[in-house]
Amino acid sequence: MQKWSLNFRLWHWIHAAIILALLGTVFLRKTFLSWRTNSEIIVTKLTEQGIDVTAEEAKIVAKAIRAPMWEWHIILGYGLTALVIWRIALLFTQSGKRNYQDLKRETLHKKAVKIGYIVIYGVIAFMAVSGLMIHFYDTLGLTKDAAHDIKELHEFMYNALLIFVPLHIAGVIVADATEEKGIVSDMINGGKV
Ligand code: HEM
Ligand code: HEM
Repeated sequence: MQKWSLNFRLWHWIHAAIILALLGTVFLRKTFLSWRTNSEIIVTKLTEQGIDVTAEEAKIVAKAIRAPMWEWHIILGYGLTALVIWRIALLFTQSGKRNYQDLKRETLHKKAVKIGYIVIYGVIAFMAVSGLMIHFYDTLGLTKDAAHDIKELHEFMYNALLIFVPLHIAGVIVADATEEKGIVSDMINGGKV
């Protein structure tokens, strides 16, 4: 019997790609496409050419440059929401339950890893629900203030992913190189129980 069904492996890798891409959009928003940095560049460079522009005008331009990139945050966000539903459906399959049976018999380390997965699933579900709430706040009848508070929480929870993702990737690589040989290729070829 296969350890990971094709269904589960497809879910894992599409999910990994979408989470990494979402983190990529946040990275761009906070660095190369930051409206704060870019509006300063716009003011400086235009002033050098003798064109007067206010900070407010430069901010509008910088945000317009960022907008097409940020659309991807929303598109990938819909993808993530679909993946959350797909993961819930996977709970009814053997691969989807595999890591969460007989937790009591596991070593302390494995217990911590698996509890970590459950926590991160909670965070990801929260990101999907809160992200949709911010995006559709008007339709949902929420005030701008409420949407702003939800955004603060959404941004705070993002830190959990920032910690989990590198820890997870380093963790499976170390496991593969030590006492769990083949753990990564199992997630590629399905492995054997
Ligand atoms: C790109 C490099 C990645 C590699 C090589 C990798 C590899 C693996 C492997 C080998 C497992 C099985 C571990 C086990 O048996 O306990 C696993 C599980 C898991 N991975 Fe990844 N992963 C990667 C990226 C990601 C990313 C970006 C996420 C996003 C949050 C993620 C989320 C998960 C989750 C939640 C599980 C637990 C699956 C379950 O419910 O049983 N992985 N990963
Ligand atoms: C892993 C999943 C996600 C991560 C890591 C993430 C991260 C973030 C972060 C850090 C911000 C704040 C950006 C800033 O103000 O500097 C943000 C804002 C936002 N996110 Fe997400 N997000 C995720 C999923 C989603 C989903 C599923 C949606 C909905 C489709 C969504 C919609 C939004 C919206 C509408 C904003 C507010 C943007 C604005 O103020 O203009 N996000 N996200």
